[in-house]
Amino acid sequence: MIKMCDINKCYRLSGEDIHALNQVSIDIEDGEYVAIIGPSGSGKSTLMNIIGCLDVPDSGSYQLAGTDTRKFSGRQLANLRNTHIGFIFQGFNLLGRLNALENVELPLIYQGLSRKRRRLQAMEALASVGLADRVKHRPQQLSGGQQQRVAIARALATKPQLILADEPTGNLDSVTGEEIMDLFDRLNREGNTIVLITHDQDIAARANRRLSIVDGKITEETGKGSA
Ligand SMILES: Nc1ncnc2c1ncn2[C@@H]1O[C@H](COP(=O)(O)OP(=O)(O)O)[C@@H](O)[C@H]1O
Ligand SMILES: [Mg+2]
Repeated sequence: MIKMCDINKCYRLSGEDIHALNQVSIDIEDGEYVAIIGPSGSGKSTLMNIIGCLDVPDSGSYQLAGTDTRKFSGRQLANLRNTHIGFIFQGFNLLGRLNALENVELPLIYQGLSRKRRRLQAMEALASVGLADRVKHRPQQLSGGQQQRVAIARALATKPQLILADEPTGNLDSVTGEEIMDLFDRLNREGNTIVLITHDQDIAARANRRLSIVDGKITEETGKGSA
């Protein structure tokens, strides 16, 4: 699913170079559930942006679902992103003037589906996260946990090959966070590939495999054969 080799990313800020990612190589297979854990400033968001094709590395290669992303234009990357990746963010990123159903339908509009088909797929996704009875609610009429479930439904609606989550429980209380993590467990059991980014060891412990990032360098913590 994900094959990164010797990825580097630097930021230049007032004459100073920040090596945000340093020779990062990662291999993630279909169906894996991987947590990437590291402290603030370690390069997690930079890595997520590259995995999610929201940004490109300075050097190194990145293959997503068998496609070498280096050959792609910005527009092609946007298309790859829309068809292959479901994003889940800490702040939910729902549109306040749209109801739950409309929020979940949004990514489907870009896929050129019929209105009827969109509605059906969005309803299915909302039902799968237990929100079939909340489709007409706007985000501000929902609890934080429900808002995150709408965001998860939105990520699932396009039936992506990869679910990419950045601190998905960061804005939730611990009980609600647990419920969201239970949902991730189920999605993985159902075959979804999940990459979860977090600074929280307890959250990371839920994944089958953990990669640790410190100062832009990745090391395997546990998992696959080394646990
Ligand atoms: N746009 C940017 N310009 C300059 N420096 C940046 C930029 N984005 C991130 N950085 C720096 O790169 C490093 C990694 O940042 P980031 O990937 O956001 O870490 P994390 O998500 O783990 O907190 C930090 O030192 C940060 O200050
Ligand atoms: Mg970050």
